[in-house]
Amino acid sequence: MDSNKIIAKKKVVTIIENTKLSDDVFSMWIEDDEIASLVKAGQFVSLFCNDPTYMLPRPISVCEVSDDKKKIRLVYKVLGKGTKEFSLLKENDTIAIMGPLGNGFILENKKTILIGGGVGIPPLLELARNLDTEILVVLGYRDNQTFLADDFKKYGKVYIATEDGSVGNKGNVIDAIKNNNITGDIIYSCGPSPMLRAVKEYGKSNNIPTQISLEERMACGVGACIGCVCKTNEVDKHSNVKNKRVCKDGPVFWAEEVSL
Ligand SMILES: Cc1cc2nc3c(=O)[nH]c(=O)nc-3n(C[C@H](O)[C@H](O)[C@H](O)COP(=O)(O)OP(=O)(O)OC[C@H]3O[C@@H](n4cnc5c(N)ncnc54)[C@H](O)[C@@H]3O)c2cc1C
Ligand code: FES
Repeated sequence: MDSNKIIAKKKVVTIIENTKLSDDVFSMWIEDDEIASLVKAGQFVSLFCNDPTYMLPRPISVCEVSDDKKKIRLVYKVLGKGTKEFSLLKENDTIAIMGPLGNGFILENKKTILIGGGVGIPPLLELARNLDTEILVVLGYRDNQTFLADDFKKYGKVYIATEDGSVGNKGNVIDAIKNNNITGDIIYSCGPSPMLRAVKEYGKSNNIPTQISLEERMACGVGACIGCVCKTNEVDKHSNVKNKRVCKDGPVFWAEEVSL
């Protein structure tokens, strides 16, 4: 996939809102008309911590762009120290940010299946907003904390899979697809590696073109450190080996391009 033009410039922006969506998932709106007007669905930003002991920025996908293209929404789960610090920020606080980064999804207006798992769900919302076609949305969660599920209902029929069976289909996203006889002409997916492996296999065995967004751990976020490579099936022209940088060449790939 083509890398998009990036604005690899660190800048400080204002937080408009930072609210809790579930026990450990937060929604942050920030004001920045440059990023908001440039970003494509599937791209991400790097957020910097104020604590100087955490030097590396944290990659977070753009979940939504406001209609006036002045604000972006980030939905993130508190996992470690960086995301904990973000969760404590309040309205009118500032945060250092770089972006938009990465390539983004290639939009095709065919009957679409969106498949998201956990913190892979947020980038699919901006994608749903930008598609002009029939959309079936399959969202996988651990339990009944089904953050963002209602937001997707504006764009298509939503099917939920939960590991504990508390909401929707008990099981994983592929179980939900099979149980509900969901079919489509293209799949877009983002989530943890085991889920993406199953989605890739499902797309391949049903002849459905599949784009997946990878969640590799990152360092620089702009293609300079080779800290985020994934294995590819073809030799990459930058490195001459079967590798691609998730931050710069991805995070979105056609499923058959990468080994999972
Ligand atoms: C392109 C991209 C987009 C992302 N978008 C989102 C998003 O929209 N919302 C969201 O909640 N998260 C997203 N993530 C994951 C997010 O970047 C990490 O959860 C975050 O960096 C963790 O930072 P931390 O300081 O809180 O945790 P750390 O202290 O750095 O790590 C805490 C734990 O999380 C694990 N971890 C850290 N980074 C990752 C990662 N990239 N993938 C899997 N496990 C990780 C570590 O192994 C460790 O166990 C994205 C990651 C990538 C690469
Ligand atoms: S994080 Fe440095 S090359 Fe991707």
